[in-house]
Amino acid sequence: MSRSQRFIVSPGGQLQGRLRVPGDKSISHRSIILGSIAEGRTQISGFLEGEDTLATLAAFQAMGVQIERPGSAQVTLQGVGLHGLQKPEKPLDLGNSGTSIRLLSGLLSAQAFDVTLLGDESLSKRPMKRVTDPLSLMGANIEATEKGTPPLKMTGGQALQGIDYSMPMASAQVKSCVLLAGLYASGSTCVTEPAPTRDHSERMLQGFGYPVQRDTQGQSTKICLSGGGRLQGMNIDVPADLSSATFFMVGAAIASGSDVTLEHVGVNPTRAGILRLLWDMGANILLSNTRTVGGEPVADIKIKASPLHGIKIPQAQVPLAIDEFPALFIAAACAEGETILTGAEELRVKESDRIQVMADGLQAIGIEVKVMPDGIVIQGGQIRGGQVNSHGDHRIAMAFAMAGLCAQEPIEILDCANVATSFPNFVELAQNAGLQLSVST
Ligand code: S3P
Repeated sequence: MSRSQRFIVSPGGQLQGRLRVPGDKSISHRSIILGSIAEGRTQISGFLEGEDTLATLAAFQAMGVQIERPGSAQVTLQGVGLHGLQKPEKPLDLGNSGTSIRLLSGLLSAQAFDVTLLGDESLSKRPMKRVTDPLSLMGANIEATEKGTPPLKMTGGQALQGIDYSMPMASAQVKSCVLLAGLYASGSTCVTEPAPTRDHSERMLQGFGYPVQRDTQGQSTKICLSGGGRLQGMNIDVPADLSSATFFMVGAAIASGSDVTLEHVGVNPTRAGILRLLWDMGANILLSNTRTVGGEPVADIKIKASPLHGIKIPQAQVPLAIDEFPALFIAAACAEGETILTGAEELRVKESDRIQVMADGLQAIGIEVKVMPDGIVIQGGQIRGGQVNSHGDHRIAMAFAMAGLCAQEPIEILDCANVATSFPNFVELAQNAGLQLSVST
C-alpha cells in the first residue's frame, strides 16, 4: 500500500447503522504472545488483522511458532512453552508497533538466544529507556541507541532476577514488559503503577492459568507474579476495539441526526475513560447487553448525536483514555466552550507528538487552541475545512476524518496509510456508515 495515501472528506453527513469494528489491538497482541509461550493449542477469534498485530504474529512465526489463519479474524497457534522459542534468522521488524517492541523486549531479554528488535521511522524515534531500565535491573543485557531508541539488541542466556519495580509513568506497555520478563525470573516480580492502566496482560495471564496477584491502595496497584510457572493454551474471543469504536462514537455525537450502535465492544474499566469523558461532555451514549467474554467486559454501545460542551479533563482519567485523545479533541472542537487537558505529556511520545500534531491540524481547519507542555486547551467553534497532516499517525488520520461531519468545507488529510496498523477496514466501514470519505494515493 502506498505510504502517501490521502483522505478527502466532504463536509456534512451523518452516521447510521450497526457496526462491528475490528478486534482489540492490545488484546490481539497479547493473545499471540501468550499463546506462543503456552503449552498446547490456542484458538483466537476476533483477531485484529492490522499491520501492528500482524507484526507480532510474524515475529513469533520467525521464532518457530506454528501459526495458522484458518479464516477471517481467526488464528490458531501451537504453543511452544516458555522455553520453546527459537532464534530468528534476522532482526525482528515490528513496523509501527510500540506495543510489539515493548512487550517483546521483556519476553525476549529472557531467552537463550540473541535477538534484535527494530521498527519503522516513527518507532525508531520512540523512547525505550522506560523498558531497558527495569530490564537491566533484572539482569538483562539489552542495548538501545545512545538516544534510548530502537533498535534494541538483546544478548541471550542471562539469568534474570525478580524485582519490585515502581513505574515512573502509568504505562501498560512497561508493566506488561516487566511481567513478561518476570515469567522467566527467579523469585517474584512486582510492578507498581502510579495510576490504573489497561490490565489485559494480567487478565489474560490468569486466563492461561498463570497466577497473578494484585493489591490496590488508592490510585496505585501492585501486580506480582512468580517466575517458573506454565501457561496452558486456551480459546480467546477478542472483543471489538473501544479505541477504534471511539471514532464512530465521536462522529455520531457531533453529526446531527446520527444514530449508531457499535457491537461487542470491549469496555474494560481500565480502558473505558472515553465513555466517562464523552458522557461528561453531554454525549448520548447507552451501553446494553453488557457481559463478560473470556475475562473481559463487553457491551453494545449506542450513540446518538447531541449537543456537547467543553470540560476540564480530570488527570486521573488520562491513562484510561490515553489512545482516545485525538478523537476526543475533535469532539472538543465541535463542543460549546473550552476543553482543558493537562497531565498528558505521554501523548507527546505516541506514534506522533499527538499534542502538537493535533494542535497544528485543528488550527489548520479553523479551531483555536493553546498548547501546553503537558496538554492543550481547545476552544470549541466552527470547523472550516482545509488541509491537515496526520504525520503517519493512524489515530490522527481517523480523528480528522470524523471532523468532516461538522466542517463547512472539505478536509484533506495527508499521510494516512498507517490507518491499516489498527483499523484496516476503516474507510469501508466509515463510508457505509455515511461518512463522505474518499481516498487518493
Ligand atoms: C498499550 C498501552 C498504551 C497505549 C497503546 C497500547 C498496550 O501505551 O497507548 O496504544 O497494549 O499495552 P502505554 O502503556 O505506553 O501508555
